[in-house]
Amino acid sequence: MKKFVAILLCMMMVLGAVSAMAAGEKVGVSMPTKDLQRWNQDGENMKNMLEAAGYEVDLQFASNDVQQQLNQVTNMLNGGCKVIVVSAIEGSSLGSALDLAKEKNVPVIAYDRLLMDNEWVSYYATFDNYKVGTVQGTYVKEALDLDNAAGPFALEVTAGDPGDNNALFFYNGALDVLKPYIEAGKLVVKSGQLEFNDVATPTWKTEVAQNRASSILSSFYADGSDIDVWLCSNDSTALGVINALEDNYDGKWPVITGQDCDKPNVKKMIEGKQSMSVFKDTRTLAAQVVKMVGQILAGETVDVNDTETYNNNVITVPSFLCEPVFGSADNYVELLIDSGYYKLEDIQ
Ligand code: BGC
Repeated sequence: MKKFVAILLCMMMVLGAVSAMAAGEKVGVSMPTKDLQRWNQDGENMKNMLEAAGYEVDLQFASNDVQQQLNQVTNMLNGGCKVIVVSAIEGSSLGSALDLAKEKNVPVIAYDRLLMDNEWVSYYATFDNYKVGTVQGTYVKEALDLDNAAGPFALEVTAGDPGDNNALFFYNGALDVLKPYIEAGKLVVKSGQLEFNDVATPTWKTEVAQNRASSILSSFYADGSDIDVWLCSNDSTALGVINALEDNYDGKWPVITGQDCDKPNVKKMIEGKQSMSVFKDTRTLAAQVVKMVGQILAGETVDVNDTETYNNNVITVPSFLCEPVFGSADNYVELLIDSGYYKLEDIQ
């Protein structure tokens, strides 16, 4: 018994020493851009939580510039970071940095967006991206009562960045719900643009989505016909579509989907211009990644809940998927204000 207690004490001391040692380590956090609200929040959350856990943090934002992100991650590795957390601008463009991480045996966690085409991706933490799409598609189906209403309804689609592996998951999730109604002729895409590559928005930029939406409106809806629904994969693209509609369209205001519950879009939901969004509580994701970092550095088993979905063309990356939540003008107070995510004045 005494021997057992002694061994236990010894193990506790070793573990204590390991986590104390690990806690002082430097962790690199590379975010794609400061342009979009969500990445600022993700970056700040990660930094605060990692520092609170005792780590030193090198947090960098890459201005949506692939080369800049590559340099930043390389510098983190050369600067002694022991774990790197990356949300890539372009999933497949960080190969040489990942090769360097492998050489230095530094684990890399893909944050929100999967790192593609490289074996050196240790873990992936994200939201259930396919489910984000099904939440959007299901909302459209219910808002138009597609099972009962006669239709046909006019639909246009704006998807995300082809360089971001998430974008196809969002698109497929939504289209898997809506395809049967398109095939049955209940939803009609007047522009004829439905394939992912035709509806994608490089870099997720509001202006890019706005330009494409404006050109669709002037080419296919200038005759005064209504558009019933515009499926947008996220809030930055929804904002572009809303701007285009405000400038170029006088018909019935369509159902518009989004994702992220960005502040300008919460305002649009309150105004009745955007119908819904999908809330991804970045605090949850950051907390999960901080836990992963701690587990990695302490040599513990890392918590994952999906080992099948996310193949990056080389390996299937063990993943932790957080739950996305439906958000709208009806539940934003509870979801965003009461939970302390935003202050009321942020969205007024
Ligand atoms: C994220 C979305 C975000 C989009 C644009 C995606 O990878 O999952 O939440 O709206 O990037 O930044």
